[in-house]
Amino acid sequence: MADGTGTATARLTGVGVGPGDPELLTLGATSVLRSADRVVAPTTDAATPGRAESIVTTALPGLAVDRLVFDMSPDSSGGAQAREASHRAAAERLLPWLANGEHVAFVTLGDPHIYSTFPSLLRALRGLGWRGEAATVPGITAFQALAAATGTVLLDGTESLSLVTALDGVELVEQALEDPGRAVVVYKGGRHLTAIAELLARHDRLDGAVFGERLGLDDERVAPLSEAGEGPASYLATVVVPPAGRARKDP
Ligand SMILES: C[S@@+](CC[C@H](N)C(=O)[O-])C[C@H]1O[C@@H](n2cnc3c(N)ncnc32)[C@H](O)[C@@H]1O
Repeated sequence: MADGTGTATARLTGVGVGPGDPELLTLGATSVLRSADRVVAPTTDAATPGRAESIVTTALPGLAVDRLVFDMSPDSSGGAQAREASHRAAAERLLPWLANGEHVAFVTLGDPHIYSTFPSLLRALRGLGWRGEAATVPGITAFQALAAATGTVLLDGTESLSLVTALDGVELVEQALEDPGRAVVVYKGGRHLTAIAELLARHDRLDGAVFGERLGLDDERVAPLSEAGEGPASYLATVVVPPAGRARKDP
């Protein structure tokens, strides 16, 4: 099967593994992970499994996983260059496996097309001249898991949704709140949780807003945002704000 060119049989599949609970790994994801020649997972430290690796090895005990180290420094601390260099280094590690004709599965938290390292890795591979086949398996997102855990109807009828980030502050959340009929999901806002709650209160949107931290993990926290408490939450925190005029429904 190995042809040495990396173009005939080699494949790269980005596999979404859900937010944390191994039960949310899809049958499609499981099937690709079982059949791939190699499973690789992102981590920030080669000695420690990343979240996506922990999910798949819990669901599929004994699964062998190769770790790829990624730099996750935010733009605000000059991280763009370091991140790009780490994407290239990861791509360089994948190349010999792909050139050997392997089907490589790259696991990623949630869905591979939503704030995931997978597209950057693929771009880096293309930049290195790899022309093989790439595909993705969709995954359940953190906001879907939070909506399910809290019984929050995210959208109904013709309502629409803004998915924004709040890594460096609440500006994008404030913009999204300009349309009261729009649901808002906030990712990467753990550090600014108190500011997000205050902003929602000012816009009369705190009622019905829910918060989920480390969803699907042992120390998961799920609560109405108004009861999340003062102070920051972890990076793995999500806020769901339904459109105005709707209250949170019981699960
Ligand atoms: C880099 S993005 C990854 C998003 C992921 N690809 C998805 O489809 O949900 C990281 C953000 O996703 C959210 N997130 C991912 N997993 C989560 C979890 N287990 N609990 C709460 N939020 C989570 C958080 O907002 C976190 O800051």
